[in-house]
Amino acid sequence: MKDAAPTAIHLADYRPPNYLIDEVHLSFRLDPGATRVISRIRFRANPEGLDDGNLILDGEKLRLVEARIDGSPLTALDYLLTDTHLTVPAARLPGDSFVWEAEVEIAPRDNTALEGLYMSNGMYCTQSEAEGFRKITFYPDRPDVMAPFTVRIESELPVLLSNGNQTSQGPGFAEWHDPWPKPAYLFALVAGDLRPVSDRFTTMDGKEVALNIWVRPGDEDRCGYAMDALKRSMTWEENVYRRAYDLDIFNIVAVDDFNMGAMENKGLNIFNSKYVLASPETATDRDFDFIERIIAHEYFHNWTGNRITCRDWFQLCLKEGLTVFRDQQFTEDMRSAPVKRIEDVLQLRTRQFREDAGPLAHNVRPDSYIEINNFYTATVYEKGAELIRMLRLLVGVEAYDQALQLYFDRHDGQACTIEDWLAVFEDVTARDLSQFKRWYTQAGTPHVTVREHFEDGTYRLTLRQTVPPTPDQPLKEPAVIPVAFGLLSPAGIETHPTRIIELVDPETTIVIDGLAERPVPSLLRGFSAPVILDHAPSFEDRALLLAHDTDPFNRWEAGRSLARETLLAMLADGTAPAPAFLDGLARLAADETLDADFRALALALPSEDDIAQGAVDAGLVPDPTAIHATRKTLKETIGRHLKPTLDALYEAMDPGPVYSPDAGQSGKRALRNAALGLTAHLDAGERALAHYEAADNMTDQLAGFGCLLDIGDPDIATRFHDQWRDDRLVMDKWFLLQIAHAAPEKAVALAETLTGHPLFDWKNPNRFRSLVSGLTVGNPAGFHDPSGAGYAFLADWLIRLDRLNPQTAARMSTAFETWKRYDADRQALIAAELTRIAGTDGLSPDLSEMIARIRA
Ligand code: PHE
Ligand code: ZN
Repeated sequence: MKDAAPTAIHLADYRPPNYLIDEVHLSFRLDPGATRVISRIRFRANPEGLDDGNLILDGEKLRLVEARIDGSPLTALDYLLTDTHLTVPAARLPGDSFVWEAEVEIAPRDNTALEGLYMSNGMYCTQSEAEGFRKITFYPDRPDVMAPFTVRIESELPVLLSNGNQTSQGPGFAEWHDPWPKPAYLFALVAGDLRPVSDRFTTMDGKEVALNIWVRPGDEDRCGYAMDALKRSMTWEENVYRRAYDLDIFNIVAVDDFNMGAMENKGLNIFNSKYVLASPETATDRDFDFIERIIAHEYFHNWTGNRITCRDWFQLCLKEGLTVFRDQQFTEDMRSAPVKRIEDVLQLRTRQFREDAGPLAHNVRPDSYIEINNFYTATVYEKGAELIRMLRLLVGVEAYDQALQLYFDRHDGQACTIEDWLAVFEDVTARDLSQFKRWYTQAGTPHVTVREHFEDGTYRLTLRQTVPPTPDQPLKEPAVIPVAFGLLSPAGIETHPTRIIELVDPETTIVIDGLAERPVPSLLRGFSAPVILDHAPSFEDRALLLAHDTDPFNRWEAGRSLARETLLAMLADGTAPAPAFLDGLARLAADETLDADFRALALALPSEDDIAQGAVDAGLVPDPTAIHATRKTLKETIGRHLKPTLDALYEAMDPGPVYSPDAGQSGKRALRNAALGLTAHLDAGERALAHYEAADNMTDQLAGFGCLLDIGDPDIATRFHDQWRDDRLVMDKWFLLQIAHAAPEKAVALAETLTGHPLFDWKNPNRFRSLVSGLTVGNPAGFHDPSGAGYAFLADWLIRLDRLNPQTAARMSTAFETWKRYDADRQALIAAELTRIAGTDGLSPDLSEMIARIRA
């Protein structure tokens, strides 16, 4: 029987499950085309379930071989089977508790969607979050049904892994038991010819834990950094959150074909190999940074996600926002905290503000969805993390710590909601958080408008908050916005150190008197709330903050806003960059009291997409072609103007002979490569080529490569290819960088040519993403080519990929989310492509939901 077209699921319709599970036994007989999965599940009626008492199991693409209840085989008359569910009516059930057994057949070899059980390079691997387990066997595939799992795997492959601890092993089989009750989305199984890199960890409770990273033969020497990051994550969480690991073994597996970054399956994390494997020659400093962060993130999920999970998928931010916040804290402790904060805010603005400003805007806790995979977004993750950062700022560090301990103690083993989360803070602080909760239930980025008035030694600061309308939410209520601020004197001395103003009303005024001179405010220090500050301080005030603010974030922010303004003025009427701006930049670049990585960030210009959004905010229609050209001009102007400073930096920032990915060295490389990038065109690429040739690490090699591509070196792409053709992760960079650095008018043609390259394996999500986002993200002027060729290219590939891998196709469609920013011609071209995609037969629910929302 066929189900109707997919419909939206609403938070308001949540109902507890009819049955809970006491235990699960799974047995797998692995075979590429015909794997048998035998399940034995002990069900028990849920007193809170519906009175109909039906047993409802999810199941998709399963061939049911046989099913039994309490040992009696079921006939087709005993249940109702659709494409998505198997329902046994209460009348056919023996009572309140019973054992369900089923044998199903699945074909991992044919699973190109990479959800459920699939194969990658001869290895079996699963992805169960969010709703992949229903492609493995019939089950109540919802996070509020938690159970201990026992798993038996039968296969001739040498390494057979599942969640929990291994209980037995023999020729052709292994058995695993996970004592911690978990929802099905945390189930995992891996089988393959894998090699371990092993270590040990002793927890603060004295528990000995075996640590293994499993990789393909030959990759063993690229796991050291990930292992180190894992041990540091375990120690950090014990020290900061007082939570320890809880199994005898912790396994990580690297797989090449993976839709996302990584997955926190209990005791068996599965990673996109790009976030595990690294050596100095093949991985950049940025890659190392990501590995550290994602290893930590998945490990931290063991407490925030696994031990305490989500009641339903609307609560996704409960685990993701919190775990992102915790991994941010970890990185702040491991590296430079101000630099990390700047990078996180850059990311937030690039991805989340963009989402909030367009047709895909949604609450941190959405009210409805069609395909939950489409809600693993920057809003749920990154804005979700900002909300926790704000909570911590509002209640204070100590109360935050107490609230977290209460959360862990009170909810261990449960599936929770945002209400449960806020309640621990309310209980610890006796503070009413109902207004704060609007951050979870209202979409859109709040604007805070600033007005200042100074007279007779009295300074009045008026802050007004508004939230623009978003899809389905025309009107918004004021939220609680913590604004951290301080005051500087016109001489650059801090007269008023940081304090927090809590905006709760639409408008708030602060009065400070007894001032000798008009102060310069430093507002939203440390980016204390995820808002847009509508404030246009004078050039002089910003230059003063850039030079003297005690808050490093706002120092950077002042420079950033000067750069944005300079670019917008250049775009509007060709106004040349102010010498004061260029001199300020030079002084900052040369300021040895500042960390190198901070200076590198200060030298980086806003991205083309940022400038486009800046143009929109200024009431203009962005022209991607002009933005690209203007940004290039500014880069060249800076290079010329700062040449002596940049040359000196290039010489001085030599990190030394032995490569290390730590913050100190990577900061030096970042600054040195920034200096190279700004000046490479001045000597026709001579230094870039020398840099490329001398590089003994991928960070430097790639920096040289980018410059040479910009300059149009005719041989460099081939040279790079010939050196790295056998390395899949490095070749992803080759595809991406070439397209990102192509001249805009040639970018689409190059992307098209590269899709014909023998190494373009479009079924591999990393490779597909590298090539396609090389254009859509890496080369906005190329993607938005006035001919519409970039749009057609993306649409063609989305349609093609959707048939194999809907999840990745849907994610890549977000390249169209900003379409309403552009001129009428471009909008018409995009609209035509969106219509074409929407009209494609057999489109997945994933992609059709995205396209429908983007078009709306
Ligand atoms: N839960 C994963 C994480 O954030 C992300 C993920 C979601 C991975 C869905 C795969 C599928 O760590
Ligand atoms: Zn996560």
